[in-house]
Amino acid sequence: MMDILEVKNLYKSYKNGDEQLQIIKGLNFSLPAGKRMVITGESGCGKSTFLNMVGSLDQSDSGQIIVNGTDITALDAAGLCQYRNQTIGFVFQFHYLLKELTALENVMIPALVAGLSKKDASERAMELLESVKMTHRKDFYPSRLSGGERQRVAVARALVNNPALLLADEPTGNLDQDNSRLVEKLLFQIVEQRRTSLILVTHDPTIASHGDIKVKLEKGKFIAL
Ligand SMILES: Nc1ncnc2c1ncn2[C@@H]1O[C@H](COP(=O)(O)OP(=O)(O)OP(=O)(O)O)[C@@H](O)[C@H]1O
Ligand SMILES: [Mg+2]
Repeated sequence: MMDILEVKNLYKSYKNGDEQLQIIKGLNFSLPAGKRMVITGESGCGKSTFLNMVGSLDQSDSGQIIVNGTDITALDAAGLCQYRNQTIGFVFQFHYLLKELTALENVMIPALVAGLSKKDASERAMELLESVKMTHRKDFYPSRLSGGERQRVAVARALVNNPALLLADEPTGNLDQDNSRLVEKLLFQIVEQRRTSLILVTHDPTIASHGDIKVKLEKGKFIAL
């Protein structure tokens, strides 16, 4: 089976005054397509740093990040835009929905950016809102939605362009337990149905237990769990 993600010799540090903080220290691994990988690890160990590099929101010091056969560390600005819009989806702890747009419009945006007609974008967005059980709230603005509902819309938006890889950084981190369970259940259901590969960062042991591949990030490297 093809690997959706291949990471080779990845290094990342941050400057903190005079000292160089080494966060990721020579990471090597690959994720087979369709698998769901869960990353845990202590606060500050570099989980978001890693995910942001795979999502091309942050730059590595060195190494390769090959997604779907393309080394994203070698892409130019236009290539990165296309990569973010078409190849990956990203769900964060905070929803980042646009407050002046309805739930439906928020989900449609990436599809419109990808060049779909309004009608096609709306159809796809409605399908995904259905999958996250939000059809009845499609015309609501984010300020009128609960935290769990906002995250369900954010999940729908992340998937509207059928990304090969979904990245999720503590998507249930701001939710109470019931809403966490629901968002988590829907997220895993949808990626399974669509055969989307998933990399999910979480502190929640129950969510972590649902991964096909479970790792802990420690001292800049993954430890298989
Ligand atoms: N822009 C930055 N500049 C300097 N240091 C940074 C920067 N971003 C992150 N760091 C440092 O890198 C380390 C890893 O941060 P990161 O956000 O990846 O941790 P994390 O594992 O996601 O933690 P949490 O579970 O709390 O979200 C931390 O020590 C943090 O202080
Ligand atoms: Mg983090």
